[in-house]
Amino acid sequence: LPRIVRTVADLRQQVAAWRAEGLTVALVPTMGALHEGHLSLMRQGAEMCDRVVATIFVNPTQFAPSEDLDSYPRREAQDVAALRAAGVPLLFAPDVTEMYPNGFSTTVTVATVSEGLCGARRPGHFAGVATVVAKLLLQALPDVAIFGEKDYQQLQVIRRMARDLDIPVRIEGGETVREADGLALSSRNAYLTAEERAAAPALHRVLVEVAARIRHGAAPAQALADAAAVLEDEGFGPVEYVELRDAETLAPDPAPGRPGRLLAAAWLGKTRLIDNIAV
Ligand code: PAJ
Repeated sequence: LPRIVRTVADLRQQVAAWRAEGLTVALVPTMGALHEGHLSLMRQGAEMCDRVVATIFVNPTQFAPSEDLDSYPRREAQDVAALRAAGVPLLFAPDVTEMYPNGFSTTVTVATVSEGLCGARRPGHFAGVATVVAKLLLQALPDVAIFGEKDYQQLQVIRRMARDLDIPVRIEGGETVREADGLALSSRNAYLTAEERAAAPALHRVLVEVAARIRHGAAPAQALADAAAVLEDEGFGPVEYVELRDAETLAPDPAPGRPGRLLAAAWLGKTRLIDNIAV
């Protein structure tokens, strides 16, 4: 079984004990309801380091009042079983008052990469993410922390934040794990009706099609507009964005020769889905 700790003091003590033995440590932050996407990050951590620390904390500050904080799936016992099967030795699962005691007043905001895309649609979201991830990195002080490319803008925000604040932790990305039909695994997929689930793989499919068209010389603006129209035909709506960005800075219109990233967000009924691929 993973050892479960609920306080920063206990977390630090365990990591320090490993450090004293000369062991390296990987941190994998999550909000729980663990699936294969999360577990692939745990395995990546185990390949890179001697010990993996998983965290489960449904972070209230990254949810807007209108969002799904209360209904977000919480199932710690199942998650602990999954972590045991994955061989993860330590779970940090603090409660809200451990992370945000009375009087908590600090927010980390990351300009530029947080703006646009999901940042434009979810005001305050990336400040909530950057603040909680800064805390988790400083609480655990691991050698490496791993985040999924599934949340690509989040990964770039965290890289920028760790660099800017001189947090001495290597930030690594993990590839998106998908269902056989291409749908990226997400805790929120559980919200989809059977009909929506059948339509959902179109999000990945159109990104693959746009990437192929751009590689073959199509004008990005036309390919992106076509993709949004296809998604609407498939039953998505509203389509928040389908955009081509610089893969690292997320600036629009990547310069020739720079790696690009296609990113999309669209609603299917009451569920908001996001996805992205390299181009
Ligand atoms: P959560 O949505 O639980 O995701 C935890 C980590 O798993 C993130 O790094 C996310 O990108 C990654 N992940 C999710 N689905 C994935 C998939 N299909 N393939 C690969 N990786 C995937 O993201 C968060 O939590 C929070 O914002 C957090 C970083 C923990 C801060 O609260």
